[in-house]
Amino acid sequence: LRDNFKRPCARFNGYVMFEELKTYVDSLVKMNVRDDDIWVCSYPKTGTTWTQEMVYLVANDADLTKAQKPLNDRYVFLDKCFLIPQKMASHIESDINRIKKLFSSGELTEADQGPRFIHTHVPYELLPQKLRDGSTKAKIIYVVRNPRDTSISAFHHQLMVGRYNGSLKNYGELFMKGLVNYGPFWKHTLAYWNKRNDKNLLFLKYEDMKKDLPSVIRKTATFLKKTLTDEQIGPLCEHLSFESMKNNPYINEKPLIKILKSKFNPEGSGEFFRKGKSDQWKNDFDAELIDRFDQWEHENLKHLNLTSYKDL
Ligand code: A3P
Repeated sequence: LRDNFKRPCARFNGYVMFEELKTYVDSLVKMNVRDDDIWVCSYPKTGTTWTQEMVYLVANDADLTKAQKPLNDRYVFLDKCFLIPQKMASHIESDINRIKKLFSSGELTEADQGPRFIHTHVPYELLPQKLRDGSTKAKIIYVVRNPRDTSISAFHHQLMVGRYNGSLKNYGELFMKGLVNYGPFWKHTLAYWNKRNDKNLLFLKYEDMKKDLPSVIRKTATFLKKTLTDEQIGPLCEHLSFESMKNNPYINEKPLIKILKSKFNPEGSGEFFRKGKSDQWKNDFDAELIDRFDQWEHENLKHLNLTSYKDL
């Protein structure tokens, strides 16, 4: 199964990550954290970008003009330093330098005043020690998504960037076995879920954002100690709709994906804003795969007396 992947991985605290993380893992764990930091964490393809935009605007009092610069510049994406193959690092040199600066001095450039917005897919266990031990007031927002839809989204993402060329069914098996990047899914998710009652962590679900975005925005505002009026929440929801985000050049021009796509899958199709729906698995999985996912979910949740993802 692993033959379908093209990059060497290693295990870190039991998680499958690109080997390049070795160079950075110590800096990451020892990194300085500031009280006003806002961290958006997730397993990949769970609605991270959506959550990032929502969190950024809630923290900025729903001032949509503040979001008129690339999301990539508003957030530091820590994982870039090990996601991009060394030979391509020159394409994102300034981003990498920014991350290195952050690791060494804990500071960004002088232009980055105010809260630092940081995003990462690294598992809870590899987050900076200072973020985990409660010695700062920094905030973590974690977003999770039904693993079935997450796996479908990840499958299409990997096809798009030319990292995988097998079937959805094969990918689903790899996903459940925890052999894809950042896996195992439940280990990643439950490590954050276990901290859901910490006062510095907010645990959100993609499906709740789909069902009732205004409520999730209010919850996030309370968490970030912000007050938003209904007059602010209305336009914010409009701004955060799938169509609006898909057509927003500050968001949809994901530089990292552009680089990977142009290098590894120049002729290929696929886009980052794909469908943005819940329960796609009901269409895309066959009966056998549905069964496999049910069993896998049961196996991984029974020790918590939970029956399914919905109980999280
Ligand atoms: P699909 O591939 O199922 O369409 P991430 O940002 O973690 O990589 O997650 C990407 C997934 O979030 C994609 O899912 C993408 O379409 C979806 N997404 C992004 N913005 C969204 C929005 N505004 N509303 C709903 N889904 C969104």
